[in-house]
Amino acid sequence: MLPFSFATTAQILCETGASRRLAELCRERGAQRVLIVTDPGITKLGLLAEVLPGFISAGMTVQVYDQVLADPPEAIVLNAVAQAKALKAELIVGFGGGSSMDVAKLVALLAHPDCQQTLQDLYGVGNAKGQRLPLIQVPTTAGTGSEVTPVAIVTTGATTKLGVVSPLLLPDLALLDADLTLGLPPAVTAATGIDAMVHAIEAYTSALKKNPLSDLLAREALRLLAANLDEAVHNGGNREARQAMLLGACLAGQAFANAPVAAVHALAYPLGGHFHIPHGLSNALVLPHVLGFNASVAAPLYAELAPLVLGDSLRAGSAMDQTEQFILALADFSERSGLPTRLRDAGVPQAMLQQLAADAMLQQRLLVNNPREMTEEHALAIYQVAY
Ligand SMILES: NC(=O)c1ccc[n+]([C@@H]2O[C@H](COP(=O)([O-])OP(=O)(O)OC[C@H]3O[C@@H](n4cnc5c(N)ncnc54)[C@H](O)[C@@H]3O)[C@@H](O)[C@H]2O)c1
Ligand SMILES: [Fe+2]
Repeated sequence: MLPFSFATTAQILCETGASRRLAELCRERGAQRVLIVTDPGITKLGLLAEVLPGFISAGMTVQVYDQVLADPPEAIVLNAVAQAKALKAELIVGFGGGSSMDVAKLVALLAHPDCQQTLQDLYGVGNAKGQRLPLIQVPTTAGTGSEVTPVAIVTTGATTKLGVVSPLLLPDLALLDADLTLGLPPAVTAATGIDAMVHAIEAYTSALKKNPLSDLLAREALRLLAANLDEAVHNGGNREARQAMLLGACLAGQAFANAPVAAVHALAYPLGGHFHIPHGLSNALVLPHVLGFNASVAAPLYAELAPLVLGDSLRAGSAMDQTEQFILALADFSERSGLPTRLRDAGVPQAMLQQLAADAMLQQRLLVNNPREMTEEHALAIYQVAY
């Protein structure tokens, strides 16, 4: 067996309704002063309405920073840090999708009273030093898995993103409460759910760090996500399906936190950067085409995953036959959910494909994990087929 290392969030609480006990969970960690980091959509939806009263009745001080934008720019992080410092926050809660959770991670680091570092110092792998404030993550989308990853992604320029990767960013608690996701619109449910599936698939074929624990998590994640995505999209009020999606996304997050994602994400990032296509949809648009490209090498692994998505409808055949069925089944999720399935339908101009391929090559951090080597010519051909 190849040696491997595995790290994850210390505690995972998977319980429908548990966010109503958030104040208690913060107090158990010794905190009296808490900053909740979220986005304006979440406060408008009233998702904090049942969460905040617990803080007041416990005599705790709680503030909400609700200005997080999707694909958060640096200024948002710095504003949230300023509020946390002014509050003398003792614990940070990330409450929302990947954007809010990523900002919360950086606030927990930068608002620690002993922190000597700036945001600029943190970019890259292993650059964060010292301690962070206690950190609880409460996802309201079932997608990024940020509640269990050591990664925070920040938008640093017009079209560029940088990541902070450090074991210090692994939260203390991930709280998975389906009640918070009941109102997630169908298109967001579908896109974020497909993002989570991609995490599982890319972890399972990850070239450098694939390992027995991440495999186990990726398989169970994909089974849960594939079995519940249609129900979550078309009958969003189904708590069982919503809780299964949250767990699936969390397991997929643990898988890819330890066996990183690859070319689907490398080709998806430039779509988000240039056209602000949501992260999950960017992944969905290139997914079938990247898997098709990888199939000549990765078909045996895709064939292992195929029964988890297709169940009894998987027909017997070679690994390549079953890979084709697998790819079609994944593409069908987008189709059935009403997501655009071609780049042209998502507002991408054909004239930009060459630039996108050049930008995808900048994601070497991800491309090294791909089961098949990908050049700029390959990336261009994939975008052309996806167009
Ligand atoms: N840290 C990681 O490991 C990691 C991994 C992948 C992606 N990311 C980052 O995560 C971000 C994407 O996260 P995301 O896809 O979760 O989206 P998001 O956090 O950007 O949220 C998208 C939209 O969904 C809305 N929303 C969230 N929960 C809702 C709910 N329950 N009901 C109704 N609306 C709701 C939000 O208000 C927002 O408008 C990107 O910045 C990406 O770079 C991070
Ligand atoms: Fe992702």
